[in-house]
Amino acid sequence: MASIIFFLLLALSFTASAQRQTNITLGSSLTPITNSSWLSPSGLYAFGFFRQRDGYSIGVFLSGISLKNVVWAARRDDAPVPSNATLLFTSDGRVVLRSAQGDETPIVSASQPASLASMSDSGNFVLYNSDRQIIWQSFDHPTDTLLPTQQLKAGAELFSPVSETDLSTGIYRLKMQHDGHLVQYPVNTPDTAPYAYFASGTYGAGDNVTLNLDPDGRLYLLNSTGFNIKNFTAVGYPMKETINMMKLDADGIFRLYSRNLTRNGNWSAVWSSTSNKCDPKGSCGLNGYCVMKGKEAECTCLPGFEFVTQGNWTSGCERDFHAESCNDKNGSSTYTMEELSNTEWEDVSYSVLSSTTKDNCKLKQNGTGICRLPEDEAVLEQWVYQCFLDGDMDKLVGDEIVEKKQLDRMVKVGLWCTLDEPSLRPSMKKVLLMLEGTVEIPIPPSPTSFFTAI
Ligand SMILES: *[C@@H]1O[C@H](CO)[C@@H](O)[C@H](O)[C@H]1NC(C)=O
Ligand SMILES: *[C@@H]1O[C@H](CO)[C@@H](O)[C@H](O)[C@H]1NC(C)=O
Ligand SMILES: *[C@@H]1O[C@H](CO)[C@@H](O)[C@H](O)[C@H]1NC(C)=O
Ligand SMILES: *[C@@H]1O[C@H](CO)[C@@H](O)[C@H](O)[C@H]1NC(C)=O
Ligand SMILES: *[C@@H]1O[C@H](CO)[C@@H](O)[C@H](O)[C@H]1NC(C)=O
Ligand SMILES: *[C@@H]1O[C@H](CO)[C@@H](O)[C@H](O)[C@H]1NC(C)=O
Ligand SMILES: *[C@@H]1O[C@H](CO)[C@@H](O)[C@H](O)[C@H]1NC(C)=O
Ligand SMILES: *[C@@H]1O[C@H](CO)[C@@H](O)[C@H](O)[C@H]1NC(C)=O
Ligand SMILES: *[C@@H]1O[C@H](CO)[C@@H](O)[C@H](O)[C@H]1NC(C)=O
Ligand SMILES: *[C@@H]1O[C@H](CO)[C@@H](O)[C@H](O)[C@H]1NC(C)=O
Ligand SMILES: *[C@@H]1O[C@H](CO)[C@@H](O)[C@H](O)[C@H]1NC(C)=O
Repeated sequence: MASIIFFLLLALSFTASAQRQTNITLGSSLTPITNSSWLSPSGLYAFGFFRQRDGYSIGVFLSGISLKNVVWAARRDDAPVPSNATLLFTSDGRVVLRSAQGDETPIVSASQPASLASMSDSGNFVLYNSDRQIIWQSFDHPTDTLLPTQQLKAGAELFSPVSETDLSTGIYRLKMQHDGHLVQYPVNTPDTAPYAYFASGTYGAGDNVTLNLDPDGRLYLLNSTGFNIKNFTAVGYPMKETINMMKLDADGIFRLYSRNLTRNGNWSAVWSSTSNKCDPKGSCGLNGYCVMKGKEAECTCLPGFEFVTQGNWTSGCERDFHAESCNDKNGSSTYTMEELSNTEWEDVSYSVLSSTTKDNCKLKQNGTGICRLPEDEAVLEQWVYQCFLDGDMDKLVGDEIVEKKQLDRMVKVGLWCTLDEPSLRPSMKKVLLMLEGTVEIPIPPSPTSFFTAI
């Protein structure tokens, strides 16, 4: 511990010379237990093995001890390796991980052989060719963290970790788009507005806008001609005795962290992209929704639902009751309709019922509507089909004023979904696309024709 403090103290005198680097020559190697990392000249940063879960991973980290100090991870989605693995800077200029069995995995993907590697006091791990040109650097391949003097370039993204103890790719991303916009989305979503939950408001600022972090903690966007077009953190934070970094956390929020080096203290968040932990979309699974309890976010199930796996919010919620049909044997509804106040539906709606009041909606459910009845269902289906064929769908809704196209879609989908032959019914995904109007809905077959056919 004393040596760490010594190194950190030493680091303070080098804040002005972050270019200083430790040179690593061809043929050097590291192992998880002894000689586990290459330190930068001041000893502030290291490249090498760090402990993660039940083994060791490779990355760049502040030479402290906690996973919070890892600022770049190599092959972050690979399983940690056992202590008998070796990291090699091979004599032919590759950086590879060699297992005890002798299998080799490339750690960096440079386009040409390297002749020198370096770990600099800025936290950048760099490979050079024989002309001393940079052919690869960790700053160009960020994982979840941006260090001072590092840029997030147009087209690049940060991905959140799974958790504070599992650094593999989590469920959120922060993208510097080619349209000048810095935007946050859940992973595996298109780069379109309905999925976004944070945006810098700089859409249209041109290609090659970059996100920058200065040593004093100023976080801002520069356009391609070098103009500051957006400040996130208003003023700089103390530079003496402190180190700053920006990190996209597992909860989907990106924060500026500051740490007092002389106290060997904690990272403390001095700025965050939002204070509402429910802002990131998709932290609660299906049929769940996010609620702020004090400063913390909690997932809750809709009324009538319970968690699929207690304690695992992403697994979502499922019905806690079993219902074969909408009505019980006595003909009264087995469903109730409940209101959720102060709740927002964030994404694109499946469908919006226009001109429907809350009471009307409830009546419909009890009486002549959704559970779209006590009468024989086949008769109802045929009646609806006849109305549809006659183009007389007003009959279906009585006095209500409804959007014609929407009604047409709903009725067609309804007819498809209630077909007796299950193989003819569309998939749930198809149904959603049909209701959204994204795909054309074919004319449904008559329910009777299938009764007679079977
Ligand atoms: C490391 O290599 C670079 C590039 O060749 C050189 O400029 C620098 O002086 C070397 N540093 C040390 C400490 O040897
Ligand atoms: C650690 O690496 C250095 C330089 O590569 C080497 O001289 C030293 O013997 C190594 N120590 C151990 C314990 O392997
Ligand atoms: C390396 O370590 C792992 C885990 O301890 C072990 O399963 C494996 O047999 C070891 N391999 C060799 C070649 O020693
Ligand atoms: C953006 O950067 C790339 C690579 O540096 C360059 O080829 C391109 O011309 C730049 N675009 C603009 C609009 O500056
Ligand atoms: C960068 O921003 C400045 C100031 O708003 C503006 O004058 C300049 O045209 C911008 N450059 C580009 C390439 O959009
Ligand atoms: C951001 O702050 C700097 C000074 O810290 C200022 O020069 C710049 O104009 C600001 N940018 C915007 C878009 O306000
Ligand atoms: C860091 O901690 C030291 C010792 O507690 C204190 O004197 C100093 O003011 C702190 N620096 C900052 C920037 O908070
Ligand atoms: C570090 O954080 C822990 C828990 O948040 C707190 O108890 C402790 O006082 C902090 N230490 C310093 C030096 O800030
Ligand atoms: C939670 O559930 C999700 C989806 O079912 C699953 O992928 C994930 O591994 C679970 N997480 C934990 C910690 O069990
Ligand atoms: C149906 O009604 C009868 C008499 O009112 C009642 O005893 C019975 O519990 C009801 N059944 C259901 C399933 O609600
Ligand atoms: C609907 O039916 C339920 C129970 O069957 C009843 O409690 C509720 O008051 C009814 N709602 C309306 C609007 O009639």
